[in-house]
Amino acid sequence: MTFYDEIGGHDTIKRMVDVFYQEVALDPVLKPMYPEEDLGPAAERLTMFLEQYWGGPTTYMDKRGHPRLMLRHQAFHINPDARDRWLTHMRTALDDVQLSPMHDAAFWDYLERAAHMLVNTFEPTPEIGPSRAHRPDLGLTS
Ligand code: HEM
Repeated sequence: MTFYDEIGGHDTIKRMVDVFYQEVALDPVLKPMYPEEDLGPAAERLTMFLEQYWGGPTTYMDKRGHPRLMLRHQAFHINPDARDRWLTHMRTALDDVQLSPMHDAAFWDYLERAAHMLVNTFEPTPEIGPSRAHRPDLGLTS
């Protein structure tokens, strides 16, 4: 029995990630960071990653290779505000699935540590920046 099985496997993680992305969709700082308008593919990647991390199927590795989280987040402007927003939405998602206190604490501890590790700038959130360069609708190129 892995941690993944104990918390209810795919259904639990998928539900969590869906709730998380519902919140991200409404977040004025995080939403513009996502390269695609449709958050579905990003939700699928995060679901696969978390499943693998907690002992479930290794589909993430098969499809995406080594996670290299720091590298894969380098392009995004992750300051403490972005981190705290990310964690707030994950807290909402964890509350929604109601894990046992022990499983909740372990999951949350991991997310907090990982999110702190991924902070890559202390500059304030830019109005216009590289993270938004993919928004041709804004008519901006830098
Ligand atoms: C600290 C705040 C964070 C921000 C602002 C952030 C933002 C993003 C963005 C914008 C993407 C690109 C979406 C995509 O195309 O998949 C992404 C991808 C991803 N993030 Fe985060 N993230 C944060 C923290 C985390 C944490 C803590 C984890 C893991 C526990 C994580 C796991 C992932 C994974 C697995 C992907 C997909 C990587 C890939 O396969 O390309 N992120 N994140």
